[in-house]
Amino acid sequence: MCGIIAYTGKRQAVDMLLAGLFHLEYRGYDSSGIAVLGKNKIELRKKKGKVEELKKSILCHPLSKSTIGIGHTRWATHGVPNEINCHPHQIGNITLVHNGIIENYKTLKNSLEKQGYVFVSDTDSEVAAACLNACYKEERHALKAMAKAYQLLEGSFAFAILFEDHKEAIYAMRKHSPLVIGYGEDENFVASDISAFLQFSKKFITLQHEELAEIKKDNVHVYNLELKEVYKEPEISLLDANSVQKNNFDHFMLKEIHEEPQVVKDTIHSIMPNDVSDLSNAFPNLEKFNNIHIVGCGSAMYAGMVAKYMIEQYVRIRCECYCASEYRYQTPIYDENTLAVFISQSGETADTLAALRKVKEYGVKTYAIVNVIGSALSKEADHVIYTQAGKEVSVATTKAYCSQLCILSLMTIHLALLHNKLSSEDLKEIKEELSLLPDYIEKMIDYPYYETLAQQISTHDNVFFIGRGIDYILSLEGSLKLKEISYIHSEAYPAGELKHGTISLIEDKTPVIALVNEERLYEKTMSNIKEVKARGANVLLFVKDMRNISEDVYDECFLLPSLSKFLQGIVSIVPLQMLAYTCAKQRGCEIDQPRNLAKSVTVE
Ligand code: F6R
Repeated sequence: MCGIIAYTGKRQAVDMLLAGLFHLEYRGYDSSGIAVLGKNKIELRKKKGKVEELKKSILCHPLSKSTIGIGHTRWATHGVPNEINCHPHQIGNITLVHNGIIENYKTLKNSLEKQGYVFVSDTDSEVAAACLNACYKEERHALKAMAKAYQLLEGSFAFAILFEDHKEAIYAMRKHSPLVIGYGEDENFVASDISAFLQFSKKFITLQHEELAEIKKDNVHVYNLELKEVYKEPEISLLDANSVQKNNFDHFMLKEIHEEPQVVKDTIHSIMPNDVSDLSNAFPNLEKFNNIHIVGCGSAMYAGMVAKYMIEQYVRIRCECYCASEYRYQTPIYDENTLAVFISQSGETADTLAALRKVKEYGVKTYAIVNVIGSALSKEADHVIYTQAGKEVSVATTKAYCSQLCILSLMTIHLALLHNKLSSEDLKEIKEELSLLPDYIEKMIDYPYYETLAQQISTHDNVFFIGRGIDYILSLEGSLKLKEISYIHSEAYPAGELKHGTISLIEDKTPVIALVNEERLYEKTMSNIKEVKARGANVLLFVKDMRNISEDVYDECFLLPSLSKFLQGIVSIVPLQMLAYTCAKQRGCEIDQPRNLAKSVTVE
């Protein structure tokens, strides 16, 4: 986690660094800081809280004018988020910003303390700065010192570094944590992610493991650890600078939900440019696998659970969905017919990546369903399928989750065809509905009464979601969305499970959100809804069929469209996202950057 930016060029470094940090805040927003090379010395400014606090502090007490500097926005790992632990860290000749975790920092710290180094913070990053300074004292050469420190530092890191006696250059190196170098005209950038400088340049290279870089305002040189120069052809980002702007929306989350119809259309088109009857280009060699493991974290895992449910139910082959942080330490059973599918928006989630690396050691074939092009997961999997969600800025995922569901639904349809589990009527229905999905989603977004629904929830401390089958799985995602952005405690339960304990929490007016798409379990779920209603619950019913529903089982009702069993989830999740958004807004929460969270979870 944490975001890094560095700038050297013709403009004021402070302005460029702050602009970059605002775009990187999604990577962490506990504290932030910058360092600029002033006339005689490096000047630092650090602030607890969001980048806005740093900006205010600099406006009140400006730093020297400078055209070179580094910046950082932090998600605390070692040490609480305060100004001492905040980056940049400075020791001797070295000032650096770091993203990652130095796993052997305790051992290094002990040995550096014996050499006389004194540490003021609790961070592993300050130890890295001291380590590099010690190497620099020995080598008296910036790149040689970096190559030496590279071998000493274990774990993951991306660094942007200023050497006090190299006033013309920024230095950078990385192991596992992402780092890109952007090329402008008479200016260059280093950042964790291209969005940090997208408004100034789309031309970039990705720094790889065991590479070091020296970045000056008019040239960039990359070296391997033997200090041999490495030529890298710059790429042009296809990202639109508008994708990192809110445009006319109050929040990125709302903007991203409104993008879902287009995202779903683009995702479907990318998988099936022609016809749903043959998706073997998008999902190669699927016929030979009869044991599928789906792995992800958070919402990505919940998308995987939808696929597990559909694959088992409608294709009748074994499919398990695992939480990546558990899977990486478990001993699942693999054989030559196992396919492991990894789902991730960022493609950088540490646990998901570690799980992928683990199964590859066992020779298991891997697919990655990823949003960020060129991310680690996309490079390391045997086959990558890109969701077409574009840049997702809001920490709570919405459009990326929807496009994951699209890909997983299409994968299930392809599997069902391969296993002769689809009739021609099924296929006809699916074809028709695929083209109508964006319109259905749009209708869900345009529903005019979310405010009224949200009012039933936003003043409460506890909320329950219930559903059976796929409705339970969608409820898990709806509940996660609600709790992460509105801070309302929320739990999702299989509707039949409530009476085994949790129903004791239902009191007069406790909000219960009931989701009823599953036709075959319709009556069963209705009975469970009546059970909570009889105990005073305030029931918000999301249902796709109003037949035989008497008004006394619900307090508010939302009618969902009726789609094929492969596609229902993609549409039914949208009102739950809108509901979570509206509740959080009514409660005055920081919707795009909920407390304690970060968008890319690159630590274990
Ligand atoms: C919730 C959310 C998270 C992510 C999870 C995995 O709204 O966004 O639960 O889904 O952290 O992240 P990725 O998909 O980047 O691997």
